[in-house]
Amino acid sequence: MGRRLKFNIFRYNPQDPDSVPHTDTFYLAETESMTLFIALTDIREEQDSSLQFDFCCRAGICGACAMMINGRPNLACKTLTKDLPDEITLMPLPIFKLIGDLSVDTGTWFREMNEKVESWVHTSKSFDPSADEERMDDAVAEEIYELERCIECGCCVAACGTANMRRDFVGAVAMNRIARFMLDPRDQRTEAEYFEIIGTDEGIFGCMGLLGCEDVCPKHLPLQDQLGILRRKMGWSAVKELFRFGK
Ligand code: SF4
Ligand code: SF4
Ligand code: FES
Repeated sequence: MGRRLKFNIFRYNPQDPDSVPHTDTFYLAETESMTLFIALTDIREEQDSSLQFDFCCRAGICGACAMMINGRPNLACKTLTKDLPDEITLMPLPIFKLIGDLSVDTGTWFREMNEKVESWVHTSKSFDPSADEERMDDAVAEEIYELERCIECGCCVAACGTANMRRDFVGAVAMNRIARFMLDPRDQRTEAEYFEIIGTDEGIFGCMGLLGCEDVCPKHLPLQDQLGILRRKMGWSAVKELFRFGK
């Protein structure tokens, strides 16, 4: 006989003045290959139609379904109940604005982060729509692609000690963005200009290096490597700047 799963689910609707944060308990018979997406949909269809949670692709691509699953951020659509104990506690991701229950607004946070680190190619070249596409070295394109796989789910932000303590910390996801533009031959920013953006406590020097971010990234981005590379590069930039002023 299949297991009987117990779900403890955080409930709160900030739009409703009568709503108070609490936990609701639901029970569900586990089925084969059940994901948390299937479980939550069953609960909403059969037990409580007011339950709020986000899903879009159901395939680990859109990043919408990230939540705290037994205390750890992860994608609900890619989490099989068979890999979890009988009792499952679901909470919304911290840090992001709560929409209701398990649904959070990651979009606003990511938009602000992308604007803060100027997450676009900086070039003085003007775009010529009739020109041939410029070719990029295959190996460089591969390296950039590896860092571009981020789905902006927010798991690494939710797991980050610094981001939980300091709202101005841009997180590993932003450092990964910067690392991606540093690799891009089209981006004409200098190391000193990158230093202005992330050579601060809000950036790489605020990172405590305990790598909760890398541990929870569902797309297995090489965050540890990128944080290490940036720390070295920005450290050297700071030393060079000191010598420049020391002269
Ligand atoms: S290594 Fe840095 S960015 Fe990653 S979780 Fe720790 S403090 Fe946050
Ligand atoms: S780096 Fe990984 S955990 Fe962080 S937002 Fe991107 S995919 Fe999610
Ligand atoms: S629903 Fe898109 S990643 Fe889970």
